This record gives sequence, C-alpha cells and structure tokens, in this order.
Amino acid sequence: MRIAIYPGSFDPITKGHIDIIDRAAKMFDKIVIGIFDNNQKNPLFSMQQRINMIKNIFKDNTHVEVICFKGLLADFTRDNNISVVIRGLRAVSDFEYEFQMALTNKKLNANLETVFIPAREYYTYLSSSMVKTLARYGGDVSPFVTDEVATALYVAYGSKRC
Ligand code: COA
Repeated sequence: MRIAIYPGSFDPITKGHIDIIDRAAKMFDKIVIGIFDNNQKNPLFSMQQRINMIKNIFKDNTHVEVICFKGLLADFTRDNNISVVIRGLRAVSDFEYEFQMALTNKKLNANLETVFIPAREYYTYLSSSMVKTLARYGGDVSPFVTDEVATALYVAYGSKRC
C-alpha cells in the first residue's frame, strides 16, 4: 500500500491545502494528514478543532486519514512505516526552505522521499495567516476556506460576518 503523509499546522486548513490533498490522493492509496503539534506557533484553533475540521472535509474520502504528531517528521514516518512526504510548492520562494527540509528529513530517515506538488495558480498566494487576518477584520474568506472553517474563523474573532 502506498501511504504518504501531508504534514502541516493547518491553522486552519485552506482550499489550497485541500487542492494538494485531493491531487495527492489520486497518486497514493492513503494520505495521512499529519497536524504538527507545533509549540513554536501559537495556534488560533485547538488541535481537536483542527482535527474535526479536516475530518469533516474528508468524511466521504476513505483514503484520507487525520492524525496529529509531535517531534520530528523523520521519526514519526519511520515509526509508522510511511515513506513519502507530500509538500505543496506555491512559489519559487517556497523552494529553498522546502529543499532544506526535504534534505534534512532524508538525512534523518534515508527511506523517506519528498514529493512536491505545485499549488494551483489560484492558491499560490494563500496562507493560513492571510485567511486569519482577513477573518479578523471581517473580510470575505469564502474563496479560501470551506463554510465550516469560515464560520469557525468568524466565531473565533467575534467578527461581524458570523
Ligand atoms: N495552500 C495554502 N496555504 C499553504 C499551502 C497551500 N498549498 N502550503 C502551505 N501553506 C501555508 C500554511 O498554511 C502555512 O501558513 P501559516 O504560516 O500562515 O500558518 C504556511 O504556508 C507555511 O506552511 P508549511 O511550511 O507547511 O508550515 P506548517 O507550519 O504548516 O508546517 C511542518 C510545517 C509541520 C511540515 C514542519 O514544520 C515539520 O515537519 N515539523 C516537524 C518537525 C520536523 O521534523 N522538522 C523538520 C526538521 S528540518
């Protein structure tokens, strides 16, 4: 079985992430969405909220699983027999960081390969932070996130569009 992990903070998941996952799901038997428990970022949404949001989005897709992980991705993948990491590339500026991360992960886990998927043009400028900023000031986030995530954002910020 070909299993790949798509790691990230997903605070929150955006349509850009969903696009990468949908396309990766056509190439692998199973996509594990790995939400990194990152204590260096101060997330807006709790881990449980992020898990629930993503599970709802992919509830009809039996090839997608959602988990959270701590520590190094290289260790998590080794312990769980996952040999492919999916990463989206939005712009050339993503490349240097992604290349560094792919090489470091390879150094730490020689069996791990990174597969890069270019983001769809429409989403190349998108990030979770941008969506949060829009929601904070009552901007329309509907082009970028699902309805459930949009509602959660407006609730979190007590914003007018809620
Ligand atoms: N569409 C929309 N937004 C996207 C995107 C896409 N296709 N791809 C990335 N983004 C956004 C993310 O939402 C994120 O936004 P934010 O910074 O506003 O939250 C931003 O671009 C950066 O994304 P990413 O590089 O995936 O960061 P991340 O925090 O979501 O995930 C990990 C980083 C979890 C993959 C990485 O830190 C990791 O593997 N950590 C585990 C520890 C480890 O092993 N580190 C590597 C050793 S070198």
